[in-house]
Amino acid sequence: MKKKLMDVHSTITVTASEKYDVIIGRGLLARVGELIADKISKCKVAIITDDTVDALYSDKVIFSLKAKGLETAKFVFPHGEKSKCFKTYQDIISFLAENSFTRSDAVIALGGGVVGDITGFASATFLRGIKYFQVPTTLLAQIDSSVGGKTAIDIPQGKNLVGAFYQPQAVICDIDALDTLPKEVFLDGMGEASKYAVLDKKIFNLVKSQDYKLEELVTLCVDYKRKIVESDEFDKGNRALLNLGHTPAHGIEKLSNFSITHGNAVGMGLKIILKASLKQGNITESVYNELTSIVTKLVGENECPFSIEEICKNSLSDKKRSGDDISLVTVHGVGDCRIEKIKVENLTEYLS
Ligand code: NAD
Ligand code: GLY
Repeated sequence: MKKKLMDVHSTITVTASEKYDVIIGRGLLARVGELIADKISKCKVAIITDDTVDALYSDKVIFSLKAKGLETAKFVFPHGEKSKCFKTYQDIISFLAENSFTRSDAVIALGGGVVGDITGFASATFLRGIKYFQVPTTLLAQIDSSVGGKTAIDIPQGKNLVGAFYQPQAVICDIDALDTLPKEVFLDGMGEASKYAVLDKKIFNLVKSQDYKLEELVTLCVDYKRKIVESDEFDKGNRALLNLGHTPAHGIEKLSNFSITHGNAVGMGLKIILKASLKQGNITESVYNELTSIVTKLVGENECPFSIEEICKNSLSDKKRSGDDISLVTVHGVGDCRIEKIKVENLTEYLS
C-alpha cells in the first residue's frame, strides 16, 4: 500500500487478471480525467450514472475529462435497485452502439453499487469487453462493490443472477462524495464495514479506536478486499468470506419486503452469526461482547423482528447453497473467520 500526500490518501494496487489501482482521497472527482489519462488514448468516454448522482457530480467529472481533451457522452437512468435490470442494460449497450463506441473507447461508472454493477456488466459484454473505470460515490461501493470485478444485473428470479467477472482499469474513490449521502445509504455502507471489522483485526482496531478518518476505513477495507480478490478472483474458495453475515441478512431483507435496508440486515445477520459462534464454542463470551459492540457501534442498535426459523427458510434460496449443503461463514476470533459447510436441514438448529 503506497501512501501519498496531497488529496490522494492512498493507492492500492490490485493484481488480478487485470492489474489496477484503487485511488482513495478527497477532491478526486474533479481529477478523474487526469487520473485515468494514462490508461486510455484520446478517445470517447461514456459516463453512465443515475439521476441522483448525475445532478450532483456529472458536471465535475465531465469537465475534468474535457480538460484532458477527451470526448464525452452521458447516459442517465433512474436511481435504485429496480434499474439494475435487463431493460437498463439493453438501454446502456444500445446507447454505446448508437454513439459508435469502439474497443479503443472507455466507460465510467459514476455512482453507487447499482451503477457500478450494471455498467461493469455492460462493459464486460459490449463488443466482448470495453475498458471501464469505477468511480464509486457510496460508502458501500467504495469499500466493496467497485473492487474485485463482480458485475451483474438482477432478473425477476433473483438478484445478481446474470453477470460476469470483469475487472476495471482503475477505481477512484472520492471521500468527499460521501458528504451528500442520505443517512440510511451511508449506514448500508457501514453494514459492510462492520463485516470487515469482524473479518480483519486491523479494521477492528481502527474502528475501536473511535478516532479515525473515513479515508482510513475505506483504505483498510479495500486492502482487505484486495487480498481476498488476489487469492480467489473467481469466487471458488475464500472469497466467500465476504459473505459473512449475509446468509441471514438475505433472509431478513426478504422477510421485511426490503423495508429493512441491506446494511441493517447485515448488522442483524452478523449478530446472529456471532451468537451461533458463541454457542458452538468457537469464541469466548468476551470476544462475542467485543465484536457485537463493534457491529452495534457501526450500524446502530437494531432488534431483528424475525425468528431464526423464518430467517433460515428465507435464506435458503441463497447462491451460497450447493445441493444439501450451505456455506456459512462462522467466527472463531477477531480476524479469524472460516467457511463451514452445514447441512441445510441443520441450519436452523445451528443458528438458533
Ligand atoms: P445504490 O447504487 O442504489 O445507491 C444508493 C442510493 O444512493 C441511490 O439512490 C443513489 O442514487 C444514491 N447516491 C449514490 N451516491 C450518492 C451520493 N454521493 N450522494 C447522494 N446520493 C447518492 O446502492 P449501493 O448501496 O451503493 O449499492 C447496492 C448495490 O451494490 C446492490 O445492487 C448490490 O447487489 C451491489 N453490490 C455489489 C457488490 C459487488 O461485489 N459487485 C458488492 C456489494 C453490493
Ligand atoms: N461483495 C462480495 C464479493 O465481492 O465477492
